[in-house]
Amino acid sequence: MPPIADVLTPDGLAAPVGLRTKDLLSIGDLLPEEIYLILDTAEAMKEVGTRSIKKVPALRGRTVVNLFFEASTRTRTSFEVAQKRLSADTINIAASGSSVVKGETLADTVRNLEAMAPDIIVVRHQSAGAGHLVARLCRARVINAGDGMHEHPTQALLDALTIRERKGTIKGLKVSIIGDLLHSRVLRSNVQLLQVLGADVSVCGPATMMLPDMARLGVRATTSIDEAVEGADVVMLLRIQLERMSGYFFPSLREYFQLFGMTPERLRRAKPDAIIMHPGPMNRGVEIASDVADGPYSVILEQVANGVAVRMAVLYLLADELQS
Ligand code: CP
Repeated sequence: MPPIADVLTPDGLAAPVGLRTKDLLSIGDLLPEEIYLILDTAEAMKEVGTRSIKKVPALRGRTVVNLFFEASTRTRTSFEVAQKRLSADTINIAASGSSVVKGETLADTVRNLEAMAPDIIVVRHQSAGAGHLVARLCRARVINAGDGMHEHPTQALLDALTIRERKGTIKGLKVSIIGDLLHSRVLRSNVQLLQVLGADVSVCGPATMMLPDMARLGVRATTSIDEAVEGADVVMLLRIQLERMSGYFFPSLREYFQLFGMTPERLRRAKPDAIIMHPGPMNRGVEIASDVADGPYSVILEQVANGVAVRMAVLYLLADELQS
């Protein structure tokens, strides 16, 4: 592995180091040492964003397609910023402006993109497993940018980077994840990643929004927000995902806030140096009060900033195989 400083010099030749996996579809694709490699590489990548010219040649000549079938602000923008900082050629495709609106399937869309020889495809889709389908059809490396209710691996990685920066370590921290557990891909990726790194993870939400396979995840679950927040080092709120709900899971948004919304009063049960996280987009006044979202414990915008560095790291490390 070359010193990361060599890779990041403006005139330096890209000499990426690799990951064992061809694609990043799930946190389960990564060994613990690969997770640390991504976090360490992301830390080094942050320096590029502080330069007046925020660009290194690591992915010069590489073509990256961002294929977004679902709405996104943070993930899509930060992937594009990351690709531009690494000098990749970036193509953005949204379902609304593509032949998907004429009825073309995901598989046919991907076969046609593959014919144009992209090196990496970043895909967000409303269906669980969409990234796996794309990866099966492609020689290109595939990064899952969120597939339905399944996983969002780069979100979990940027969350881990943010926690590690703030706390120095993840091992032994009490992390409480609170909100719409049932519909959350962020939860599924974070539980895996934080447990691998040694955190003590518990979850909290309405009984109607617990995961059917909660026991398999190996986390404690409670419907009491006070119990969940008690002594927590990290409180991570999850968005209520109305767009994925086909029925009624709670009487009203007002009642949800009364029972599960994070307020300054509730936060007092956490450790005095606790941090508040949210993957965004936030429903202010539903899962989180504005006083908390914008308050001194919030690291929500640090998460967004770290999204660029983590995505630079993942792109850079996955590109290793392309060099050979
Ligand atoms: N956290 C997240 O995935 O946000 P976007 O939907 O805006 O990308």
